[in-house]
Amino acid sequence: MSSVHTAMNSFGFPGIVGLAPMAGITDFCFRKICFDWGADFAYTEMISAESIVRNIAVEHLLPSKVESNVAIQIFGSDPCKIADAAALVESKGPWININAACPVRKVVSKGAGGALLRDLKKLRQVVRCTKSAVKKPLTVKVRLGWDRDEVDRIIQICLEEGADGLEIHTRTVKQLYGGRAKRNLDLSKWKAPIALSGDVFTAQDFHTYVMRGASAVLVARGALRKPWIFREIKGFQSTELSQIGRAFLIHIFLKRAVKGDRSLYEMRQFVRGYTNGMRNAREFRERFMKIKDCDSMIEAVAEFYGLSVNQFNHMVKAELFKDRALEK
Ligand SMILES: Cc1cc2nc3c(=O)[nH]c(=O)nc-3n(C[C@H](O)[C@H](O)[C@H](O)COP(=O)(O)O)c2cc1C
Repeated sequence: MSSVHTAMNSFGFPGIVGLAPMAGITDFCFRKICFDWGADFAYTEMISAESIVRNIAVEHLLPSKVESNVAIQIFGSDPCKIADAAALVESKGPWININAACPVRKVVSKGAGGALLRDLKKLRQVVRCTKSAVKKPLTVKVRLGWDRDEVDRIIQICLEEGADGLEIHTRTVKQLYGGRAKRNLDLSKWKAPIALSGDVFTAQDFHTYVMRGASAVLVARGALRKPWIFREIKGFQSTELSQIGRAFLIHIFLKRAVKGDRSLYEMRQFVRGYTNGMRNAREFRERFMKIKDCDSMIEAVAEFYGLSVNQFNHMVKAELFKDRALEK
């Protein structure tokens, strides 16, 4: 066994709070919204190593040219394929992240994602092969273990094989999203950067992890429920209704610009978060779910937040094109 890799580790998370990877959610549009609210870094949705190697429609999943702090998350089960895939896309992001955490049956049944924690020899090979294939830093997103907490062994393996850092969802794979995430991991013995993820729904949850020694904290469902959570984590006490409405509208515009009218249906998964706890939210959501075109959606949202669509159209164009956000 090689010794734990601690030599001149220059990797650090580019900030204290990141948007966690979420398949089907953390696309370019949602990342932009979360960066605007204060997220320091983010991840792509998980991308299959197989698709990258076979060059099957992955371009839209990779970070856009205008994003600088978006790591590329890859999943797979074959160490060589993951390594090849990482080498093929590493130029598109600041670091490569391997998914050894996903508990979804479709992924685990193929030996990928969280299944790598059931076979730690395989996990070791994956990290070893990938590390030797890439020049950019490599991190591994793991859970505490497959069905029990063996996180120390997992961290040890990843670091021995040269991982530059880890992201840990503090549940086991078998727990899925049930029970409470573990808050009191002892990270003091590890020199590498370790970001923690699990049940971050408030600024207080974030601080609890930081006080426990996390190098950074990842927010997943908390960002879906309340995209402006990053602003609260950064110390802003209140967020105006008009700011939330504006973000919601920008999100719809971005989705339409990037994905066309089918984005209408994708926006449905965000309406609860943008209207959480607001007056008449229930009635609005029911109406929103029935809307069948983007223009009507924009009008309905503008009306709900008391914004004018015309004024907004100008503002959005200025906003979106000022940093050439839509340029691929
Ligand atoms: C809808 C959804 C999709 C997710 N997709 C991924 C993924 O693609 N890759 C990954 O590493 N984790 C994924 N996760 C896990 C999150 O990154 C995060 O670690 C987990 O949800 C715990 O954080 P939370 O309690 O703040 O939600 C996903 C979670 C959710 C809710």
